[in-house]
Amino acid sequence: MDAGKNNQSTRGSWGSRIGFILAAAGSAIGLGSIWKFPYMVAKNGGGIFLVLFLIISATLGVALMTAEMTIGSLAQRGAVGAYERLGGKRWKIIGYLSVFCAFILLSFYSVVGGWTIAYFFKFMQGSLATSNAKELTHIFETFVANPVEPLFYHALFMAATACVIIAGIQKGIERGCKYLMTMLFLLVLVLIGRVMTLPGAINGIVLFLQPDFSKVTSAMLIDVTGLAFFSMSIGMAIMIAYGSYAGKDIPIHRTALNVVCLTVGISFLCGLMILPAITVFGIDPQAGPGLTFISMPAIFEQMAGGTFFGLLFFFLLFIAALSSSVSLLEPVTGFFVDEYNTSRTKTTIIVSILMFIVGIGASLSFGIWKDYTLFGKNLFDLLDFSSSNLMMPVSAIAASLLVGWKIWPVFAKRLAGNGNPLWLRLMKPFFRYIAPAVIAIILFQGLQ
Ligand code: PHE
Repeated sequence: MDAGKNNQSTRGSWGSRIGFILAAAGSAIGLGSIWKFPYMVAKNGGGIFLVLFLIISATLGVALMTAEMTIGSLAQRGAVGAYERLGGKRWKIIGYLSVFCAFILLSFYSVVGGWTIAYFFKFMQGSLATSNAKELTHIFETFVANPVEPLFYHALFMAATACVIIAGIQKGIERGCKYLMTMLFLLVLVLIGRVMTLPGAINGIVLFLQPDFSKVTSAMLIDVTGLAFFSMSIGMAIMIAYGSYAGKDIPIHRTALNVVCLTVGISFLCGLMILPAITVFGIDPQAGPGLTFISMPAIFEQMAGGTFFGLLFFFLLFIAALSSSVSLLEPVTGFFVDEYNTSRTKTTIIVSILMFIVGIGASLSFGIWKDYTLFGKNLFDLLDFSSSNLMMPVSAIAASLLVGWKIWPVFAKRLAGNGNPLWLRLMKPFFRYIAPAVIAIILFQGLQ
């Protein structure tokens, strides 16, 4: 970011549009695309989940990301301040909700982030050198059920996130993403190439691409909507914070479209990499959160230079997760710094410790706390469900209503100047009625 370059306000602006896209993509692309998307697709019967994911991303995803970025750009504030400035005092509550949601989300996100570090080291030690699905499943399950080891890595991941924030958000967010995400993209292409040439891969591709409409249930609809929001970092006011740095010369709707395409593209490629591995190695499609960690070592075992690729993959996965977790910690820290004038470093440390503590419960729910459930969900699932499937959709409804009813004229002007193109005319009823109604119906049905 170049402070104050293209912007009259003191907030500063992204040095270039590409910097803005990359930073937003750095937040969006993460465990959602590489860890969550593949196992959700596999669990929900493949093709139809993919089709719905694409539809929701292309409609709600693009529109809401545009809405959030524009809200930020117009208000020149982070979440809480932006809602207050544009909507009035009562809207502040949506800002609070987003901050709370970011807190909950990062506390379990960090547990999985820790797994990526652990798998990097396991690769180094050579303890994953097998393509036997049963053995890899056993390794994963024993690791996550251990009451101590994953907590150590969870702490490490949380500490890494906090260090990036303490060292300065701009550098942290922008620096790594540009090259490393390109590398990740190329690596995924190479891995797809490898897995596709293994016998039986075609069945996985069919599973991934062939829709079976009979699999659509209300529970699945809420899952797919929650996943789309989670993957694109929507409904948590994170894009509001990024938008607040976007100078007037940046075309927000095109930026949002780019970020959605990048995220969906990576998710799709990860599906093409992992679903065939399920059929090739005979992995249980219901493996859930372990799927990426079980299937990837099997692929590396079948490759020349597998250890190198394995190390590179888990390193890049860690970086992808880190750039997302930084974007989650920043608004929580920023909230306390702005509202209560606390010290940035101290706040970051305290918030991170609190997140770590909540995450302990999430981690233990794969082991000794497995049987402690509420509404049929263990703590990890509860944190995930309540943030992705409840709070994010509620906050997305709010963003939509704010744009459609409260700030439409300025919103339209910010996006299209004095013009009134067709897409903009379609967006007004979309924000006013369609998006809030669709999300509300999905939420309501999914909770029944
Ligand atoms: N989108 C990130 C991912 O896919 C997670 C995230 C969600 C980050 C919400 C910020 C806000 O990993």
